[in-house]
Amino acid sequence: MPDHPQGLAARYYTDPDIFAVEMDAIFARSWIMVGHQSQVAEPGQVLTAQVGDEGVIVANDNGTITGFYNVCQHRGHQLIPPTGPGGEATSVKGTITCPYHAWTYNLDGSLFHARGEQVGEICIPTVRVENYAGFLFVNLDADAPSLEEWVPGMSAELLAIAPKTPERVLSHRRTHLIDANWKIAVENYNECYHCPNVHKAFTSGVVAPGSFTLESKGRAIHQRAVGPDPEKSGYTRTDEGNDYGAFFTWPTSSIQCYPGQVINTFRWVPLAVDHTLLIREWWFDSPDVSVEQMEVIDLDWDTTVAEDFDIMDSVQIGIRSRGYTPGPLITHPSGIASVHSEDTVPHLHGLLHEALAGRV
Ligand code: FES
Ligand SMILES: [Fe+2]
Repeated sequence: MPDHPQGLAARYYTDPDIFAVEMDAIFARSWIMVGHQSQVAEPGQVLTAQVGDEGVIVANDNGTITGFYNVCQHRGHQLIPPTGPGGEATSVKGTITCPYHAWTYNLDGSLFHARGEQVGEICIPTVRVENYAGFLFVNLDADAPSLEEWVPGMSAELLAIAPKTPERVLSHRRTHLIDANWKIAVENYNECYHCPNVHKAFTSGVVAPGSFTLESKGRAIHQRAVGPDPEKSGYTRTDEGNDYGAFFTWPTSSIQCYPGQVINTFRWVPLAVDHTLLIREWWFDSPDVSVEQMEVIDLDWDTTVAEDFDIMDSVQIGIRSRGYTPGPLITHPSGIASVHSEDTVPHLHGLLHEALAGRV
């Protein structure tokens, strides 16, 4: 019998103390996707987002993209209370005024005025913002490697199959609350061992299942597949972008390109040890979605995405059972996962242990 790596101990998915360590060891030190450059293309545009257990603001300060915590340095009110779960893009007139006592900040995070009081130099702590093929990522850690060092070459690989990514705009967003730990969601996303059983539409209509591979490359996982056979699926091949590629960035961001240049993203926001907010966004040439584009979105959401919802919730319930012992994981000698193996799962566990560095 081959040696199989074992699954992760159940407590990593169920223990609130481990979740608290992850907020610091992972989410305060990793690159997390928060949106796209088109959302802050104009001076005065700002974007709010959740990074682990922190709120951040990304702003266009007269053409410079800045990032800082979403917290007033007076008595702690959120500077821009988020109006939606996904983080919102909005416009301000050059400054942000705190809703509590109306202290006002410049878009680099420095205090502009405290209603005429002299309070000294005050600046909101900044966060790093970097750009990956047009998508904006934030890292709270000033000493973290650059995004390009974090996932070397991934931006170029995405642009090779989806060259229009930097010009796209937000066209549609859907969210779903998963009753499971964020790692259950991310592991599920990054393995297709369950696809032939769970995702019949995806493996018959969107990709050719035999071509599906998931390759682990450090903190990145690159999913690839060729588009379906037009004869069998009715899918029409176009001149560009016939194949499927997805580019996962550890820990919780992924950019996908479906056949036909359908660029869409996954963000998983960990809310509690057993609750994760999924944010799906679709990025087309216009903010208005055509009937055909909405059909693609609906098909994706109603089949491939929704088929995983009950699966993930059920795994969370099962993992906390006294009757669960982590099982063997199925791997392939190449280390590349497919519809027959789940090599990416032990790889993700390795990234987890490396980030936690013995703290739990
Ligand atoms: S908490 Fe923001 S002005 Fe007082
Ligand atoms: Fe799935």
